[in-house]
Amino acid sequence: MALQDAYILVTGGAGYIGSHTLVTLMEKGFRHLISLDNYSTSRPDSYALVEKITGSRPVVVEGAVGDRALIRHLMDTYKPAGVIHFAAWKAVGESMEKPFLYLENNISQMQVFLEEVYRQHKPVFIFSSSCTVYGEVQQLPVDETTPRRPANSVYGLTKQMGEDLLEGLCRMGFTGPVVALRYFNPVGAYPDGTLGEWPIGKPNNLLPIICQTAAGRLQELTIHGQDYPTRDGTCIRDYVHVMDIAEAHVLALEYATKAASDRMEIFNLGTGSGVSVLEAVHAFEAANGIKLPWRMGPRRPGDVTAVYSNSRKAAEILSWKPRYTLHDMMRSAWLWQQYLENQKLPL
Ligand code: UFG
Repeated sequence: MALQDAYILVTGGAGYIGSHTLVTLMEKGFRHLISLDNYSTSRPDSYALVEKITGSRPVVVEGAVGDRALIRHLMDTYKPAGVIHFAAWKAVGESMEKPFLYLENNISQMQVFLEEVYRQHKPVFIFSSSCTVYGEVQQLPVDETTPRRPANSVYGLTKQMGEDLLEGLCRMGFTGPVVALRYFNPVGAYPDGTLGEWPIGKPNNLLPIICQTAAGRLQELTIHGQDYPTRDGTCIRDYVHVMDIAEAHVLALEYATKAASDRMEIFNLGTGSGVSVLEAVHAFEAANGIKLPWRMGPRRPGDVTAVYSNSRKAAEILSWKPRYTLHDMMRSAWLWQQYLENQKLPL
């Protein structure tokens, strides 16, 4: 059976990267998608936006990845050939205020999830990891062989633990093929701006904050720190378009299905370009013809100075090549914010 005709279980399908990945899977002919989400950090309304773009909807299941009976039921009913596991909490600051809640959501529930996923089956498994696992690095760019450093946040710790769990279980033969994708900083929206990052409550990340500032919902952007040892004193990140990230999941799914390696494969997903916070602000202003009110503020605890990716491995093995530019990221993010405003969608 072609992979496109098999069931694929997507956890966190209503979330930011999840919803864009649903669109990409559908655009590439995947017809049997199941999205499991408990909407703790996402909205079920995302599916209507996915449907507007693609004309289809996944099978929608409301629930938690740690709901043992539910996962057992889903695995028995659909026998998915692939599992893409996005569902997790991802706010760095919040993870330092509620460390055990992050461990519960991202690790304890994942452990139950894995137990039920692998009870009878060995589907291909794609895990959402993050460049945060590298911690404060000494040498840039980072590639997959760069040693991980102690985590700077509990969120980062949960991503390291998630990778370790899967790596060990995979190596010891308890899983099917496993791929961990280390995202750098996913930003942007579906190119026409009809789907994008849809935070609940106050956003934590740079692009949603920039967009809400441009829309007048926030008074001004505070740049967290101007005294970093970088070219303009602000932190450097590797911003990568969410649609490129989404595409990498399809490539990883196809690759892992064919390669059936008994080792977990890790791929960095970044463009390879380091962009400072000030440069990101200027890129947004230039792409959209908007002047942003901003001021310099103190450093944000837990931020690393600079991180950007060497993504050669993803290029060579997955044939993944980011297609969208920084301009595209900034443009689509703003189109999406305008869509939210014009359609009077809740924020
Ligand atoms: N920043 C500001 N002002 C803000 C918000 C952010 O200056 O109001 C700066 C941050 O200090 C940082 C850069 O913008 O230098 C990017 O910050 P984000 O919060 O957008 O993203 P992080 O680099 O902190 O990355 C974190 C996690 C990633 C995760 C990402 C998106 O480490 O794993 O958030 O959730 F993918």
